[in-house]
Order: sequence, then structure tokens, then C-alpha cells
Amino acid sequence: MEQAGILGLGCYLPSRKMTNKDLEKLVDTSDEWIMTRTGIKERRIAPKESAASDLGVEAAKLAIKDARLKPEDIDLIIVATVTGDMAFPSTSCIIQDKIGAINAAAFDINAACSGFVFGITIAKQFVDSGLYKNILVIGAEKMTSLVDWTDRSTCVLFGDGSGACIVGKSKDRQIASYFIGCDGSGSNLLRLPAGGSRIPATEDTVKNKLHFLKMEGNEVFKLAVKVMADAANKAITKAGLLCSDINLLIPHQANIRILLAVAKKLGLPEEKIFLNIEKYGNMSSASTAVALAEANKDGRIKKGDNVCLVAFGSGLTYGAVVIKW
Ligand code: ACO
Repeated sequence: MEQAGILGLGCYLPSRKMTNKDLEKLVDTSDEWIMTRTGIKERRIAPKESAASDLGVEAAKLAIKDARLKPEDIDLIIVATVTGDMAFPSTSCIIQDKIGAINAAAFDINAACSGFVFGITIAKQFVDSGLYKNILVIGAEKMTSLVDWTDRSTCVLFGDGSGACIVGKSKDRQIASYFIGCDGSGSNLLRLPAGGSRIPATEDTVKNKLHFLKMEGNEVFKLAVKVMADAANKAITKAGLLCSDINLLIPHQANIRILLAVAKKLGLPEEKIFLNIEKYGNMSSASTAVALAEANKDGRIKKGDNVCLVAFGSGLTYGAVVIKW
């Protein structure tokens, strides 16, 4: 029976690499500290003139091509981002114009690093209800535009990139289940304080560096392990599966220690986790999007495999999706 599934995938990474050695010249840190504490070796940096939409457009074009569609065939665009080009208009509208998806409605969602998982979940509802046929879901982030390059506790973690998928009716790669959740009591743990309606931009907010992201790393770490494992478990159970039935877990690439702890909680061996954090760091909503596209391209997913995408992010948001490949 046909139901919502993945029709095409694509991802894009800016070519400029920033290594841990490069960061050693900016802040008091070391390659050894960053590798052992986070698993990150390098990250990509988008050019100064590029915004999230420019990154998203590249991944979108590849996903549309991969699905053997034309931009005019897309009837909805959902962009997950916390680094949109502007507060408004939405980045999805800008991408709609740039790729010529003239028949598409478009909106952005803000679920931080869980955004791509939330986007797939929303797309599934629209496809299964019959309202839309071909939905472009994009995770696009220029995280380095929010980073305080003098704060060693955060600047080593993030990178830029984008990934996209087309969700439509399909006989394979079906979205078997999903679970999304939120714990708003943790909303202070990871935030960009100024520039919104609470603290609009002033000279003081700039002086006090309130336009850069702030994070309580230790607290986020502890919660991340719990909520990611819970979300994955819920989606896997909803799909009528056991954790041992999962062939590949594709987690949000936040910190290698978090990911290994989640895998341990789920009873999954390391070889069943897809990891690319070493190359790209944390790209927020683009992390799971890029990882899914890369895992497929690298032949890590085979027909019939059960794939679980799981993420957590600022909010705190969390969610998981099981795809039967
Ligand atoms: N280089 C060297 N030393 C550092 C660095 C660095 N880059 N950063 C921090 N340190 C120091 C600290 O100052 C501290 O020193 P002190 O003991 O003298 O005070 C020491 O290292 C230990 O610091 P901790 O914060 O306890 O280090 P921890 O092992 O917790 O690692 C990290 C920090 C990597 C941030 C970790 O807490 C983490 O990964 N947290 C989760 C972050 C995350 O996943 N965020 C994802 C969400 S992103 C999103 O949703 C948009």
C-alpha cells in the first residue's frame, strides 16, 4: 500500500573547512580536547555572503533531481532553520522563488536541531491526508553566523550545511512511525537572547554579545541522552519494532559522547549508528538531513532496512522517525 515515504534526498556542504587546529589560533583550546570531548575534527564554514536559503537551495535542487521531479511538481516547502535569512519573510519563501517552485506553498518551522525530524513528521500528515503530493523538507543552517568566536565552550561545536528530502506517496522508504515532543522548562538552556520581541536589538545588546547563542552545555548533555533514547524508543515501538530491529540509527550529530550513550541505552552496537560529526560538527536542523542523505549515498542503508532518525534541540524539542527503506 502506498503511504508517505522518501522520494529523493540531497545535501550540500560549503567547501571551506575549519579544523580544530585553526580554532587553536582563535581560542584557548586544543585538537585533543575537542576530539575527546565532542568527536569533532573539523566543520564547514559558509561564505560571508551566503545565508541559510543559499545553502538550502543547493540541497533542494539535488533532492528534487533525485526524486526525478521538476521544481513545478513541488506543492509544499517546509524549511527547518534557526538561522533563517531574516526574521521574516520565511526562508522557505525565498527558496521557493530561487528554485522556481511556483506551485508550492511554503513555511518555516523552528524546532532547532529537531527541525528536520519535525518537518518530516508534518510532511507525512499532509501526504497521507492527500492534501499535498510532493513536499520538499529542508534543514538549512548557517550556525557559524550565531557563534561567538571568542567563547571556546560553544564555538568549537557548530558548522554550516543543508540537507533536503522529498516526501510523497511511495511503496518503499515509507515513514512507518514518528514521535515528537517538547520540554519547555528547558527553554533557557540553549538560546539566542536578543533580536526577538523580548529583547530587541540595541547598541547594548550588541555590546553585551546577546546576539550570539548561549548554552548550558552540561545540562543539555544530560537531558539529551534521556530524551533522544526515549524518543527513539517511542517511535520504534509505534512502528511495531524492537530496538534490535533497527539497522541504522541516524542521530542528530551533537556530541559523540551523547550519541554513544544513546546507542548504549537503546542496546545498539556502535556499527549501527551513523556518524559524520567528525567532519561537520553540529549543524542543528541540517545535521540529521545531511546524515540521512549521506548514509543513503554511502550505501549504509539497504532495501528493507529499518532506519531511525532521532534528534533533540533547543526548546527543548525532541523527536524520532522510523523509515522502512
Ligand atoms: N577547549 C578547552 N577547554 C574547554 C573548552 C574548549 N573548547 N570548552 C570548555 N572547556 C573547559 C571548561 O572551561 C572547563 O574548564 P574548568 O574545569 O577549568 O572550568 C572544562 O573544559 C570542562 O568543561 P565542561 O563544560 O564541563 O565540559 P564538558 O565535558 O561538559 O563538554 C560540551 C562541554 C562539549 C559543550 C558538552 O557539555 C556538550 O556537548 N554538551 C551538549 C551540547 C549539545 O549537544 N548541544 C546541542 C544542542 S545544539 C542546538 O540544539 C541548536
